[in-house]
Amino acid sequence: MKELIDRLAQQQNLPDGELLALIRNTDSETERYLAQTADRVRRRWYGTDVYVRGLIEFTNICKNDCYYCGIRRSNTHADRYRLTEEEILRCCRAGWELGYRTFVLQGGEDPWYTDEKICNLVKRIKGEYPECAVTLSIGEKSRESYAAYREAGADRYLLRHETANENHYRQLHPEPLSCANRKRCLRDLKELGYQVGAGFMVGAPYQKPEYILEDLRFLQELQPDMIGIGPYITHADTPFRDMPSGGLHETLRLLSILRLLFPGALIPATTALGTIHPQGRELGMKAGANVVMPNLSPAAVRKKYELYENKICTGEEAAECRFCLERRMESVGYRVVVSRGDVKKQPV
Ligand code: 5AD
Ligand code: FES
Repeated sequence: MKELIDRLAQQQNLPDGELLALIRNTDSETERYLAQTADRVRRRWYGTDVYVRGLIEFTNICKNDCYYCGIRRSNTHADRYRLTEEEILRCCRAGWELGYRTFVLQGGEDPWYTDEKICNLVKRIKGEYPECAVTLSIGEKSRESYAAYREAGADRYLLRHETANENHYRQLHPEPLSCANRKRCLRDLKELGYQVGAGFMVGAPYQKPEYILEDLRFLQELQPDMIGIGPYITHADTPFRDMPSGGLHETLRLLSILRLLFPGALIPATTALGTIHPQGRELGMKAGANVVMPNLSPAAVRKKYELYENKICTGEEAAECRFCLERRMESVGYRVVVSRGDVKKQPV
């Protein structure tokens, strides 16, 4: 396997059979070598820098009914909320003071936030903080809507593809969602000049190594700037309540494989990874990640944005998450930087 990993690092690619063998491999020595190689590549491109994104979860109202997600429409136990424009701006102001230069506005697909409201919000944030990057993560929209947000000043868009396989997509999402439309959205976003983030859950129900291979091939075709992966985590108020969560090591190995396939990508050590293991995000960094997304949402709503159970950082204030993460990253030899943290097209 070492020879294979070296070749992957050199060529940023492997034939299907070998990549599949690597995806399937669970041996801990291989995992260690993967992480070591991925970290070397990460340091060549980004040094020890860790980019932070202030995450503002501004609505947990969603018109979709994804089987895995805790804020799905049919979950009547979810305590729904929307932040006002003023509340969102207050989060950004607090975030700016804490050194965040990227704000991620994430929410369910909530029709109350019309394109006009989203555009106004983006304009106000960019008006107050012209040097910041605004990232939207608000799901599937028409090309026209994406164009309008871009026009208003949005720089980046996060939309995980969730799975590149049509059949698997159907096992995770009821109609009217479709794999084809998801991919259409991502291609439109790229064409409109966004820095685009895609990704998927590791250990999602019905996932197979062959599907992960398809995910990697889809990502190679899309060439996103950001790739977000984290373990699937069971939520009791969903149809997948009896499905097991994804694993730590499975996620770490995939993070490393992603770093080797996409040396310059922005790859977060996600909150979900921090949720399944107390040092999940630190281990994610050591396996090749270079981004963390601390929570900037008002403490009063944090518990309500419950995509999955036992989510971390729900009792904390913005400043606590900021300093907690700084310490955590330092504990494993990396450094949080005050920067927009744009994607690099060349190693340093
Ligand atoms: N476990 C882990 N991740 C989840 N997401 C949604 N539900 C869960 C869950 N139960 C992820 C999806 C989505 C992102 C915002 O959160 O991949 O794209
Ligand atoms: Fe949120 Fe540690 S990062 S409390």
